[in-house]
Amino acid sequence: MKVTVVGAGAVGATVADNIARKEICHEVVLLDIKEGVAEGKSMDMMQTAALLGFDTKISGSTNDYAKTANSDVVVITSGLPRKPGMTREELIGVNAGIVKGVAENILKYSPNTIFVIISNPMDTMTYLALKSTGIAKNRIIGMGGALDSSRFRYYLAQALGCSPSQLNADVIGGHGDTTMIPLTRLATLGSTPVTQLLDAETLQKVAADTMVGGATLTKLIGTSAWYAPGAAGMEIVESILRDEKKVITSCVYLEGEYGQTDICLGVPVVIGKNGWEKIIDYKLNEEEQAAFNKSADAVRAMNDVLKTLSL
Ligand code: LAC
Repeated sequence: MKVTVVGAGAVGATVADNIARKEICHEVVLLDIKEGVAEGKSMDMMQTAALLGFDTKISGSTNDYAKTANSDVVVITSGLPRKPGMTREELIGVNAGIVKGVAENILKYSPNTIFVIISNPMDTMTYLALKSTGIAKNRIIGMGGALDSSRFRYYLAQALGCSPSQLNADVIGGHGDTTMIPLTRLATLGSTPVTQLLDAETLQKVAADTMVGGATLTKLIGTSAWYAPGAAGMEIVESILRDEKKVITSCVYLEGEYGQTDICLGVPVVIGKNGWEKIIDYKLNEEEQAAFNKSADAVRAMNDVLKTLSL
């Protein structure tokens, strides 16, 4: 099994590092346009192999797509990250051209690959990758929900004083500060709804903190985060390569599911060897569905911006 990670910035390098440490595949290729960066970071990671005890081979390449040939999964992280005060949406002009070009180049050498899209604005980049390549919808997965759900579980765990891994909690909708929807009503610790364990005010704060989780980090660090985004990317790749059939909230193309059509948005999906294989219907209540529709409107407006760009 082989994985390519395009973009050797902090997020891309962390995805590659996580994949290698977990030995989910034999080979990881890290590719970047900046001369030497992918090669250097790959070599640095390979020099941890003796210490960490993994056998995955990581190699770097400066824009030579031939090296990515026959990848089973390709993770696209390329493009600019957020700066403090910036929204993910402001990145569309620059990142759209980059993501489109990367996807085209990848398909020349890996025509059957499955894409995991991390570049922002993630929902629109996922839609763009699907529309511009025309490949089957199940082969394009946007990463946002896995990350936002992990942040949701972090904030819930902080409030509950429990282990994040014992929480089931999903964030659906868009991967934007105002478009994501932490599904508080359905979140559980073990089998107990968190609504029975935390008061409404605390739950509201947890949801609000989750929604600006990325922005909070961007403000603190000065650029957008990478540890959790990198681990979330790895989780999706792992479920594909090991055919785990994990339910992971991911950005996928909707054709009527959750009341939306012709849009990529975060919903719970089963992820396995064919990419995303099935959408799970959480049966939203009226309020949640209204929030989902509002999120879809905002993402659709962003998708419309693609038409104004000369791609
Ligand atoms: C974040 C970026 C990766 O949420 O979208 O940290």
